[in-house]
Amino acid sequence: MEWIPILYSTIILLSALIFIILYPKKSQSPRLPPGPLGWPVFGHLFSLGNAPHRTIAGLQPKYGPMVWLKLGSINTMAVLTAKAATELLKNHDLSFVDRTIVETMTSHDYHHSSLALAPYGPRWRMLRRICTVEMFVNKRINETTSIRQKCVKNMMSWIEKERNGNPENGILVGRYAFLAAFNMLGNLMMSRDLVEPDSEKGMEFFSAMKGVMEWSGRPNVSDLFPWLRWIDLQGLKRRADRDMGIAFGIVSAFVEERIQQRKNGVGAKEKDFLDVLLEFEGCNEESGKLSDKEITIFILEMFLAGSETTSSSIEWAMAELLRNPDIMTKVKHEISSVIGPNNKFEERDIDNLPYLQAIIKESLRLHPPIPFLIPRRAIRDTNFMGYVIPKNTQVFVNVWAVGRDKECWEDPFSFKPERFLGSNLDYKGQHFELIPFGAGRRMCAGLPLGHRMLHFVLGSLLHQFDWELESPIKPNSIDMSERMGVTVGKLEALKAVPTKSVA
Ligand code: HEM
Repeated sequence: MEWIPILYSTIILLSALIFIILYPKKSQSPRLPPGPLGWPVFGHLFSLGNAPHRTIAGLQPKYGPMVWLKLGSINTMAVLTAKAATELLKNHDLSFVDRTIVETMTSHDYHHSSLALAPYGPRWRMLRRICTVEMFVNKRINETTSIRQKCVKNMMSWIEKERNGNPENGILVGRYAFLAAFNMLGNLMMSRDLVEPDSEKGMEFFSAMKGVMEWSGRPNVSDLFPWLRWIDLQGLKRRADRDMGIAFGIVSAFVEERIQQRKNGVGAKEKDFLDVLLEFEGCNEESGKLSDKEITIFILEMFLAGSETTSSSIEWAMAELLRNPDIMTKVKHEISSVIGPNNKFEERDIDNLPYLQAIIKESLRLHPPIPFLIPRRAIRDTNFMGYVIPKNTQVFVNVWAVGRDKECWEDPFSFKPERFLGSNLDYKGQHFELIPFGAGRRMCAGLPLGHRMLHFVLGSLLHQFDWELESPIKPNSIDMSERMGVTVGKLEALKAVPTKSVA
């Protein structure tokens, strides 16, 4: 037993040595932004609550424009003001250009072919070019107007049908907007109506994609403690694997079918985005042609990136309009006087509807569907606003807080679309106080399409129907609390009664 004191002495000695070796390093360690004290191991995990964008925004008065947090083992910096967002996305965009990748998105190696998750480099550039040059240029978007028209027409007839069955009851606005957005993407990408009762494969795909969005939107222990990934404590990876597998199988069969049709000389009636992808030739050896798997994942990504973002934005805007009846009356008046009560709303009308545009901007300012952007990751140690941000730090740009920054916005908590009238302020990435689509190299690749879809769907809903709240809900009692997921939607889905059909 004489070895016990020797063991203790050795442990104490070793600890002292480690302390002496580490201590000077610590005092020389680079200066990190300030932040609240966290718990050992868990960091700030338990203090973020159900709406982390709100909780973190609340730290700004005490800690300033950036806060340092530890989420489990993940170093995280949150940017909270327009000035800091400008500094990050304009002057240091390249240092924070990569993404953090959540475990569910590694299902079926999705992340290896994804554009949104690709590391900055030739492959990302190639995929991005397909979006910006081949798909979402104005010319191509103009050529596909009739597709979106057809989808909105279908949405209207579904709403009309539900209304006729139950005229007193409200309809779920976000649900119809989601179905319309999903079908628009299905038609633009693959010339298919996916949300149709007689499209069995389409409906199966629809539910699988809803599943993927659900699992990847949930907070996952595996992301916070990567060494626990193998256990998949919440089973989210298993479920994502299952649903991604189903969605992947269906889309790759559609792709295969099209390849065969093209070989036999019969493709889609009009060239769609799938044709663009199949015909795409990379500009150099490294980028090359897209494999069938890459095409399939590209298509899946457009659904993930473009459906819920659009529909939840429309739901929020409609909720704000129902809360503010004067603004509702004013925008309906604008639409009806520009378009005429008996004509259909068309995309070319959008440019002539400044008040509708102001409503969309104001709604995205207060309710950005992706309140932290898609989290960025530092690719190197970076001097940022007087601090040194270590490589691999995860970065949240809190656009929810930026949209409420008192330095930039007068009366920031009120819904006032008028603030945008006569101003050239927009969300296209040049005005850093309004960045619901992000900014810099990684800003939303689908913005031109998203912009069209938002105005066209909301404008059509407003033009075609009058909207009221279900009795006994009053404008000031609409629940505006949020639900965290892939996007931040309304916790309580908005129900509104479409009362009068005009066009
Ligand atoms: C209301 C509609 C939309 C909103 C608010 C929105 C918002 C965003 C945001 C915040 C980002 C991350 C930007 C950043 O990190 O700086 C993003 C990225 C992206 N979005 Fe959108 N989006 C919308 C619609 C769409 C649509 C319709 C598509 C395509 C069909 C799309 C495709 C993408 C893609 C591919 C990326 C990844 C870009 C990259 O990493 O290079 N989005 N979007």
